[in-house]
Amino acid sequence: MIVSFLAIASMTAGLACDTGDGGVADGSCASGERWGGGEASSLMNPGRDCIGCHRGEGPRFAVAGTVYDAVDEADGCFGVADVAVHLVGADGKTVTLTSNDAGNFFRSSLDLAMPYTVRLEYEGRERVMTTPQTELDCASCHTGPGRNGAPGRVLAP
Ligand code: HEC
Ligand code: HEC
Repeated sequence: MIVSFLAIASMTAGLACDTGDGGVADGSCASGERWGGGEASSLMNPGRDCIGCHRGEGPRFAVAGTVYDAVDEADGCFGVADVAVHLVGADGKTVTLTSNDAGNFFRSSLDLAMPYTVRLEYEGRERVMTTPQTELDCASCHTGPGRNGAPGRVLAP
């Protein structure tokens, strides 16, 4: 945690605000669309670790991630819009977020009993993370190849 914070801090040293580059070449996304870099917005850096970078700059998020339709989609590629991301708390209470045009979803504050599970809902279909988690930074596990046992990207149902 400390190491990655320092890495981000030194990466951004000398820049007023590092919003990242586009991350991926045009034409290399399964979705056919990508974030091209530039101005910070809710569509920025799909697939990347929003919470990790925002620890140094930008708004703080309690939860953030990106929904994709390919398990191994590269950082910077746009994902799937309008997916309902239901975060189900240990007490059964649910908080619902909706993915935007980049596939990104995020919220700055959250009242959720830990550990939580996830149920995605899209066009009448569902996909569930049954393993309870306490970390709300989805991209810390759901990278292209996947980390910490995650099967790759957060995949749309
Ligand atoms: C490489 C670092 C980095 C990553 C990764 C990153 N951001 Fe940002 N983001 C920033 C910075 C820096 C700002 C503030 C820019 C400014 O103040 O001009 C920002 C600002 C924002 C804002 C506010 C934009 C506005 O209009 O003020 C939103 C929303 C946002 N980011 C969403 C996200 C989401 C969602 C993700 C992950 C999918 C993400 N960011 C990933 C660096 C990053
Ligand atoms: C600490 C690592 C970790 C974090 C953080 C995490 N996940 Fe997962 N996720 C996993 C693992 C491991 C699996 C595979 C086991 C399972 O399906 O329960 C998984 C599976 C899933 C699945 C089901 C995949 C499938 O193909 O059936 C979805 C959907 C999902 N996660 C969404 C999310 C969302 C959304 C977030 C953030 C709110 C998140 N995950 C945060 C580790 C994580």
